[in-house]
Order: sequence, then structure tokens, then C-alpha cells
Amino acid sequence: MIYCKQINLPKVPLHLIDDLDVIVSRRNAAANNSNATGGHYASYDVSKELNDYLQSFFKEKARIKYLVISKSLPIHIDAGTPEYKYNYVIQLGGNNVETVWYDSMNESRSILHKELCDANVWYSISNGIPHTVNNLEGVRIIITAKSKDGSPLTIINN
Ligand SMILES: [Fe+2]
Repeated sequence: MIYCKQINLPKVPLHLIDDLDVIVSRRNAAANNSNATGGHYASYDVSKELNDYLQSFFKEKARIKYLVISKSLPIHIDAGTPEYKYNYVIQLGGNNVETVWYDSMNESRSILHKELCDANVWYSISNGIPHTVNNLEGVRIIITAKSKDGSPLTIINN
């Protein structure tokens, strides 16, 4: 089982990344999220330029968003998404922010894996099993890419 794996995609050019105040001026697509993570994060469209740049790396149509996480995420499984997605952290939100995967949602759960993700690196992340994001001290900003229909998103090798 792979929980988190660095993948070989290029760093996102800085000029394609919006400032936080621009990002949060857009509509929050997660505003009505009422599950465990509701209110802990917001989801925003990326610019057309960033979308086109990132889409060129994927075979299938990708859903590419900014995630702005303002509070540590309680244990959850991402709803309605593929088992893996691609994440690129723009801003870590603290020096010790860890993503932790568990074997169950129950109180008696055991930790399967912990990861301190680096900024400016692409990761393939398992989001189909219970996980948390802990130790947030500030705002964590991520670019996330997944497929539209729940199937895996394939990276084009060239
Ligand atoms: Fe998640």
C-alpha cells in the first residue's frame, strides 16, 4: 500500500500561482461541505493559465483546484474522489504539519503511516483510507489534481 509518493512532475512556475487574497476572492466550492472536514478547508478554481499548464501533464480531463486549509483536518476519507490524487503544497502551514493515515475510523485505530510533505514537490496521495492533517499553525495552500469521474488520473510520459 502506498500512502504518499513523490512523483516526477515539474515545479509549478511561480508566475502561474495566484496570491492567497486573489484565490480566496473566488467562490468557495466547499462552502456547503457538511462532513467531518466542513469548515476546515475551502476549495477554489485555479486560473485558466494554471489549469491549461497542469492539464497538459494528464491524459484524462483533470479537476484542478486550490485547497486552502485553515484548521487541522479531523480523520476522514475523501468523499467521491479517486483513491489517489496529486497534491502540490504551495505553503506548508507550519514546520511540522503531518499527514497521518490510519487503519480505521474507530477510536482504537492504529497509525499506518506519517508523512511531512515538502513544499513545491508533487505527491501522489492516498485519500481513500482514513487520514488526518495535523499540527497546522497557519494556512496550508495546496494545488490538487484528480479526475472528474473517480477514475485514476494518468500522467503522460513524454
Ligand atoms: Fe483528505
